[in-house]
Formats: sequence, structure tokens, C-alpha cells
Amino acid sequence: MSIATNSGTRSLEMRILSTNGRVFLHQLGTTLAAAYGGLSNPRCRQSIAALAANIDGELREKIRPPTGDSGVCVVRGLHIDEQAVGRTAPIWAAVDGAASLPLDLQMLLLASMIGEPFGWQGQQEGRLVNNVMPAKGYETVQTGASSEILLSPHTEDAFHPHRSHVFLLACVRNFEGVATTISSIRDTELSDSDIEILSRPTIPILPDLTYGDLEKWGDPVPIPTLWERSDGLCMRYDPDYTPWAEADPDYRAAYERLGRELERVSRRLVLEPGDVAIVDNDMVVHGRVPFTARFDGTDRWLKRVNISMPDRPRPVAELTENGYDQQVDYLSLELK
Ligand SMILES: [Fe+2]
Repeated sequence: MSIATNSGTRSLEMRILSTNGRVFLHQLGTTLAAAYGGLSNPRCRQSIAALAANIDGELREKIRPPTGDSGVCVVRGLHIDEQAVGRTAPIWAAVDGAASLPLDLQMLLLASMIGEPFGWQGQQEGRLVNNVMPAKGYETVQTGASSEILLSPHTEDAFHPHRSHVFLLACVRNFEGVATTISSIRDTELSDSDIEILSRPTIPILPDLTYGDLEKWGDPVPIPTLWERSDGLCMRYDPDYTPWAEADPDYRAAYERLGRELERVSRRLVLEPGDVAIVDNDMVVHGRVPFTARFDGTDRWLKRVNISMPDRPRPVAELTENGYDQQVDYLSLELK
């Protein structure tokens, strides 16, 4: 993994798994896959939750949300068997679920040590582990399936009050060295006035194109771009899906200054196979640099798991949002 930064020299937190930790986790993933055959088996989900609750020692120490203001850390050393998982599929729906299952289960174990993994019913058929790879026909669309364009910095699923608090991005393959971009709100330098303006609920954020039925979305709800958590400033930001040009001039100007600041503090993170980025979705926006996809089975392939952390409250006003008719399924749904 390499890191470049437009502005600072602060290094990113890196946690390296020991051989024992890597082997233990891999064995858990393969054993669960062989025993239960898939996540449609409720006992598989129950076992993940129970195992994660009892894992201690090195893994417990290394698998936790990032500390400090960078909002991102990388755990290096997840076992990736590139032969076993197969070639990069041409689209998420074509991923061989059985071949990926041991790795997916490892990711869900890690995610369950942080909080509650979940999937969106309207995205990738509700899968708890999403696959991110370039898809033909989506080269210039602002989603993770794009390639030729800069994927603009954004909060993951910013439109929804149940968006992840933290998410995992694991790298299966990245021969091209395509960089993920990350920017922390804590690295920006904004005036008190800009923070006050951007903390007003002024404009909505709409779902991206990977979510279905616009008819059911209901009325857009204005939300604040910036908000305070107990440990400092947080954001909810997705300019490509925000009609910010319709806001008042003061808001527009502050929003543009925020965008320039996020660009100024942006870092480039090149994940390597076996790297797992743990991203604080309230502190950091992420994106991806443009690249030319080959569509020959060797393209960049990431896996993503969304994690909810109920002990991290957000603004109370979010409780009244309808979430544009998008529902989540939690890993341990059957347990609740
Ligand atoms: Fe994203």
C-alpha cells in the first residue's frame, strides 16, 4: 500500500496481521463456509455473531475503528487466494458467490467485531458483502462500477439516516494500482462562519443510481452537511447527488469552499491484495481516481461491508427521515 497526500505529511495508521492471526481468520472463514454453505443459512449468521463476540487478543486489538483524526486505518495481511476467488467478474452480479464465500465470511467476522454488518435491500440484491469492480457501460457513471471518471469524494450512502458509521474496503486485486481517495473533515480548515452555514439543514442528498424505484422516494428532506459528534466535526457529503446549486448564495459559497478543502487534504490510498481499509464514514469522504478498465478478469476488485454502530449517535433530526424507501438488512436479523 502506498499513500500520497496533497497537503499533509501525517502518516496513516497501519496494523499488520501476524501469520497466526491471518491463518486463524482464514481457517474460521473456510470452516464456516464448509459447515453452512452460505449466508442464507441462519446458523451461519448466528455463528459469525457468536464467534466475533468471543474473538480476543491480536484480532480484537487490530480490528477496531480508526483512532485519531485521519478517519482511516489499514489492516494488512488478510489471506487472499486469487486462484480460489477467481477472475474479476464483469459485474457484481456475476461474482461466483461460492468461491468468494470464505473471504466474505472473514470480512463479516471482522465487521462483526466492530458493530453490526448490514446490506441494502435495494443494492446488490441485499448482499452483506458488496463487490466493487468496473463494469462495461458504467465507465462514466458516478457509482463504484465506473472507471474512466474521477469517482467524486462522497459519504457512503449519504442520503440515508441508516448509512454505515464505519465500512470495510478489502482489496482482492489491484494490479493497476488504482488509488482510493480519502479526505477527513478534521484535516480541513474552515471558518466558523462556514461551519455554521453548512450545519443548517438546507439541501437534501438523493440516492445514487444503484438504488431502484424513484417513484417511491417521497419528498426530499433538507439535511445539514456538517454536524458535531462528541469527538469533533463530522460530515454528510455527496455533491453529485446534492442539488446544492439551488441553495442560497451563502450556502453555495461555503459548500464550494468545503469541496476545495476536501480536495486540498485528499490522500491517495493504493490498496494491495489482503489490505482492509477501515473507514469512518462520518469523518471521511472517499472516492477513486480514473483508470482504464481492461474487462479481462484482471481489473481492480474490492469488497465492501457496511457496519452500523448504535453507540455512535447522529443528529436527532435524522430519526424523522424516511430514507427514500431504502431498507437495510442486518447480519443478525434472525437474532433480534
Ligand atoms: Fe463509495
